[in-house]
Amino acid sequence: MDIENANCKAKLSECVHNFDLDQMCIERPIKVDVQITGLERLVEELHRVFSKNHVNIQEVQKLMLSYKSDPKDWRKYAKYDRFRYTRNLVDAGNGAFNIMVLCWGPGHASAIHDHADSHCFMKLLSGNLDEVRYDWPENIEPEVMKKLKRKPTRRCCSESEDLTEEMRRMGVKCPNGNCQSNVNDSCQTDSANFDSCQNGNSDSDSCQNGGKIDQTNDEYADGYDVQSMKETGRTRLEVNDVCYINDALGLHRMENPSHVDGAVSLHLYCPPFDSCRVFDARTGKPTEVKVTFWSMFGKKIKRVMEASEIADSQQ
Ligand code: SIN
Repeated sequence: MDIENANCKAKLSECVHNFDLDQMCIERPIKVDVQITGLERLVEELHRVFSKNHVNIQEVQKLMLSYKSDPKDWRKYAKYDRFRYTRNLVDAGNGAFNIMVLCWGPGHASAIHDHADSHCFMKLLSGNLDEVRYDWPENIEPEVMKKLKRKPTRRCCSESEDLTEEMRRMGVKCPNGNCQSNVNDSCQTDSANFDSCQNGNSDSDSCQNGGKIDQTNDEYADGYDVQSMKETGRTRLEVNDVCYINDALGLHRMENPSHVDGAVSLHLYCPPFDSCRVFDARTGKPTEVKVTFWSMFGKKIKRVMEASEIADSQQ
């Protein structure tokens, strides 16, 4: 099966049998034949699509591409903070997805993060953003990979060979680079917006998280292996570009490359999640963080609200 049949309404690890990640990695122009006028119309269309049991990834990408950014549609959600990027909820998608406007001041960036087994679609509305991708750190395995390892063998060869092939097709690198011999042995080493400051990713001393790192030692006191994160790619997004990522494709962070201009992006997550992991760029150490909003439905909220509270308040 291919990307057309991947159900992005389900968590990634729940639909891993149904899609071919090879195809997701291929940059190909998606033909957009309709134009959606206005962000409100886009949200209506997304509701229609997500009311079905099966939602395919390409359909969502296409919808997001068919909307052309117009500041008058999203200005009311565009609330900036001087110090960090903000997350501004536009619609809670009946619990099936959520969509939000993120505002990035000059130089603002997110921390390296995963997507909590969800699907992430992103469209640039204004300015520029760089998407920087990373491999997962060694010893940390996303849910989706655990599921793939449990996949029954299809051929008469050993499961390890089968799995190696599956991982190779997905472009997932074996942590110690030794998948060839025995993938099971070698691979089975078993609240806030997540801006770069919180995770010690920033160069600034004041931003460091105080993690216990002994520079002369390659292990934390808790035995966690220290290894800096490997950048695997960098893409400059222009206005109206749409990109997609999930945990099988790796980790990423966004950066506003401008030191003068802001940037605005539209993010859709399905299913919505209320926490995810951020990773220290220098060590790969993960930290679970709550996902919060700066404003909801165009109104600045008195205190930063956690995503789980929003789902509850909608019922
Ligand atoms: C991103 O860097 O992809 C944005 C993360 C967020 O949703 O806060």
